[in-house]
Amino acid sequence: MTDQLSPVDRAKYAAAVCAADMVENGMRVGLGTGSTAAWMVRRLGHRVREEGLRMTGVPTSARTAELARQVGIEVVSLDDARWLDLTIDGADEFDPDLALIKGGGGALLQEKIVATASDQMVVITDAAKEVHHLGAFPLPVEVIPFGWKASKALIEEVLATLDVMGTRSSLRMDGDRPFITDEGNYILDLALGRIGNARQLSLVLNQVPGVVENGLFIDICDMVLIGHPDGRVERRDMTTGKVSAETVEIEGGENAFRDI
Ligand code: A5P
Repeated sequence: MTDQLSPVDRAKYAAAVCAADMVENGMRVGLGTGSTAAWMVRRLGHRVREEGLRMTGVPTSARTAELARQVGIEVVSLDDARWLDLTIDGADEFDPDLALIKGGGGALLQEKIVATASDQMVVITDAAKEVHHLGAFPLPVEVIPFGWKASKALIEEVLATLDVMGTRSSLRMDGDRPFITDEGNYILDLALGRIGNARQLSLVLNQVPGVVENGLFIDICDMVLIGHPDGRVERRDMTTGKVSAETVEIEGGENAFRDI
């Protein structure tokens, strides 16, 4: 299975396996959304089935919940779990301080709530998502459908006063209809090009009426695991300042998900 993967997917797989192997018996784990997180969920399912790992998962989207159940992970709500030991999720961009842009998959709201209700957030990614300054990836902002055009206009007005390169935003579509989040909201994607002050931008965006949450994750991520196509994974720990490397067996992973 894994030998048919593209180089980017091999890199994501390596990071995902490394993160899933951090999970210990009894942990309550936030399960992210996206293609990298899906590898991690599959790996956790494999560990539950093959190693008898005891854990509960709090998914960050309906599709992650479905996958988690499918692979044999016990799924609970965040309200039932109350607090999590660890959340593992992907990202769309990360900078040297491990500030993130998330929400490319439209799940930023639940992802942010779950990540901030965790002792530790670990991001799993390939190297291409590392940037000096956030903003090349369009910033997702979740808005309620009521009056979304007014919210969009206000956001663009406010962006003109901030340290960003672009101010245009667009409604995310799903075919010929607006994309709807798991919470029944819309997503505006902000083409900012470069974000000068992510902290300020995040605060200001969340003041706009109609905005539910934005995809900037600042001071939330504790560790990033950067996978490479050859199985190498670089681990950067913000808490200890330590950087280390390990290697994940990619070819040997072929049998891991055969029964899914
Ligand atoms: C989901 O809403 C996003 O935050 C994802 O975590 C992000 O888009 C990364 O996705 P991939 O792992 O598919 O690249």
